[in-house]
Amino acid sequence: MDDLDIAIDKSPYARRDSRKQRIIIGVCVVVGLALALGLGIGLGNKHSGGDSGSNSSPTSSPTASSLPSPASLWQPAVNASWQIILNQTLNIDSKDPAIKPDVEIFDIDMFTHQNTSVVSDLHRLGKKVICYFSAGSYEPYRPDSHLFNESDLGNPMDDWPDEIWLNISSPSVREIMAARINIAHGMGCDAIDPDNLDGYQHNNGLDLTSLESIDYITFLAEKANAKRMSAGLKNAGDIITNVLPLVQFSVNEECVKYTECSVFSSFIKAGKPVFHIEYPEGAPSDVTTQSSRKLCSAPGIASFSTVLKTKSLDNWVEYCNGQVAMTSVTDG
Ligand SMILES: *[C@@H]1O[C@H](CO)[C@@H](O)[C@H](O)[C@H]1NC(C)=O
Ligand SMILES: *[C@@H]1O[C@H](CO)[C@@H](O)[C@H](O)[C@H]1NC(C)=O
Ligand SMILES: *[C@@H]1O[C@H](CO)[C@@H](O)[C@H](O)[C@H]1NC(C)=O
Ligand SMILES: *[C@@H]1O[C@H](CO)[C@@H](O)[C@H](O)[C@H]1NC(C)=O
Ligand SMILES: *[C@@H]1O[C@H](CO)[C@@H](O)[C@H](O)[C@H]1NC(C)=O
Repeated sequence: MDDLDIAIDKSPYARRDSRKQRIIIGVCVVVGLALALGLGIGLGNKHSGGDSGSNSSPTSSPTASSLPSPASLWQPAVNASWQIILNQTLNIDSKDPAIKPDVEIFDIDMFTHQNTSVVSDLHRLGKKVICYFSAGSYEPYRPDSHLFNESDLGNPMDDWPDEIWLNISSPSVREIMAARINIAHGMGCDAIDPDNLDGYQHNNGLDLTSLESIDYITFLAEKANAKRMSAGLKNAGDIITNVLPLVQFSVNEECVKYTECSVFSSFIKAGKPVFHIEYPEGAPSDVTTQSSRKLCSAPGIASFSTVLKTKSLDNWVEYCNGQVAMTSVTDG
């Protein structure tokens, strides 16, 4: 069990353990910012709540304008079912279209699947696909890593020293991320899940502020929306007020563990889902019914799309109804 614990703790994907608990203070600060900025953001983008229909497909819209109308963007439904796999490549057997679990949405690592047919295979099975990439950290092992300018790198991340915080205000970083969004579009992704938008909560070495994050998320969401892809807000609970109109869903890690799920319920009120991940002790082999039940019965998450995962975000998943699944993958 020691080995398993060590392996899980080194995972590059679950980053909440070292974050500073600044949600409450942040909410107060940001309410002020919202007054200053919210109006401008709201005027530029009206892709806000209300349209929670899950099947408004954007693909065949003939709109000529460069910015899509809100109706042409995919707005996933509150409580939609999903699976997230970030450290492996899905293996979809076209002869056996049964996919496990048979959920509506798959959130997968973009680069790992870039030169595969997985996105179109999932579409053929009637699934929607959210493509994950890190927007706020430098990862040395990505195909475009050489494009980053050293002057845009801050501190290594506390728990993942091979990843480095990025200056999200840098035009060069933004150009690289715009190219990543184009890759997602080329792959046919329905949405993007840009990670590490909350550098301001961490010792980032670049004096990143929540205002910069708001501006950056605005940039990313507008780029994605212009390509008819939806965008999510990863964690970053204290800037929800500012960016809620710009994004179509939340991806949250461990709001139960950090007792902040109520912060994310504003997504639900806006008709937008919260794709919610908890990492139970001992997952996958030693999750007790009791610990699952405790996570799943936490206040305020009844309408969240909750999954129980290992911190490596591999193919194992458990749902609050007790269903357990292992998605077929090619590696691992
Ligand atoms: C996919 O193929 C393109 C074109 O050959 C290449 O530039 C890119 O790096 C590849 N992506 C991955 C993740 O291997
Ligand atoms: C890298 O950053 C430095 C300092 O900001 C700048 O002078 C240089 O032009 C940048 N290089 C590239 C390739 O963007
Ligand atoms: C981050 O980039 C912006 C825009 O280029 C620049 O003004 C700022 O000084 C940079 N921050 C750091 C810490 O280098
Ligand atoms: C959410 O969806 C699940 C099925 O995936 C269903 O069992 C549950 O009742 C739904 N919850 C709410 C609050 O709609
Ligand atoms: C993904 O994580 C699991 C641990 O849960 C590990 O067994 C597997 O080797 C990992 N796969 C890759 C490709 O890193």
